[in-house]
Amino acid sequence: MRHLMSPLDLSIEELDNLLDLANDIENHPRKYAHACDGKKLATCFYEPSTRTRLSFEAAMLNLGGSVLGFSSADSSSAAKGESVSDTMRVISCYADIAAIRHPKEGAALVASQKSLIPVINAGDGGHQHPTQTLTDLLTIRTLKGCLDNITIGLCGDLKFGRTVHSLINALIRYANVKFVLISPDELRVPDYIREDVLEKNNIPYEELERLEQAMPMLDILYMTRVQKERFFNEEDYIRMKDFYILNKEKMELAKPDMLVLHPLPRVNEISVDVDDDPRAAYFKQAQYGVYVRMALILTLLKWKGDTTC
Ligand code: CP
Repeated sequence: MRHLMSPLDLSIEELDNLLDLANDIENHPRKYAHACDGKKLATCFYEPSTRTRLSFEAAMLNLGGSVLGFSSADSSSAAKGESVSDTMRVISCYADIAAIRHPKEGAALVASQKSLIPVINAGDGGHQHPTQTLTDLLTIRTLKGCLDNITIGLCGDLKFGRTVHSLINALIRYANVKFVLISPDELRVPDYIREDVLEKNNIPYEELERLEQAMPMLDILYMTRVQKERFFNEEDYIRMKDFYILNKEKMELAKPDMLVLHPLPRVNEISVDVDDDPRAAYFKQAQYGVYVRMALILTLLKWKGDTTC
């Protein structure tokens, strides 16, 4: 039995297979409509979510399975003091696979250790968000053709943004990927990412504060929201929240084929006037999230093709 805690839990070959499967699902959805007949997915969300929870649920329903779960800690027995470990051990009796989101780093790992079913980390605090990374990789590979030879700008809250941490970890495995880290000083990537991931692996990167300076060199711009829920005080959040706003004028500085991605939700960091730009790919990205989660469920349930899991 396998869990998914980090994008690095999958080898490059497994990842390629999973992305190939997601592309096939996109092109031939009917082929997969009964692959999970009789199977159940539990979504255990201790933190708010729209995309991750609902795309997991849509993924399982598209595969012919069913879903159950809770969407806040308050509506589960966590409110009475139950541990994530006990909760997951019990949910193992009710479902075949589970996705868990929790505000504490490492909670998904703890949940997986006593689980009798595959557990997927759907976001643990400021740490990792591996299924968002799978979504990002599928979007880039499908729209750009490959994951090699790209310069990607990561912009915004690089300190608390778990999607950024997961994506950097995943992309360093591809050839000739360069990172431009665009953030105010207070929201720079954590030292462990800069030193243990980028520098240790000799990955080229630069850190900038001005988005305008970075725009002309990017193949992909990955915007992120300032993570209000992870700030210790409201004043700091208010000072930082509108530090970057991508708008039409800034898009004029970009390459004609640069892609704009965002894990969403957005607040103010991308002006709505960018939405109609053909380079804005963030809503497509949300759609790819369903295909890749379908592929992940099939992979973890060891689907062999042509039969049900
Ligand atoms: N991208 C993402 O994780 O969105 P939600 O918080 O809505 O799930």
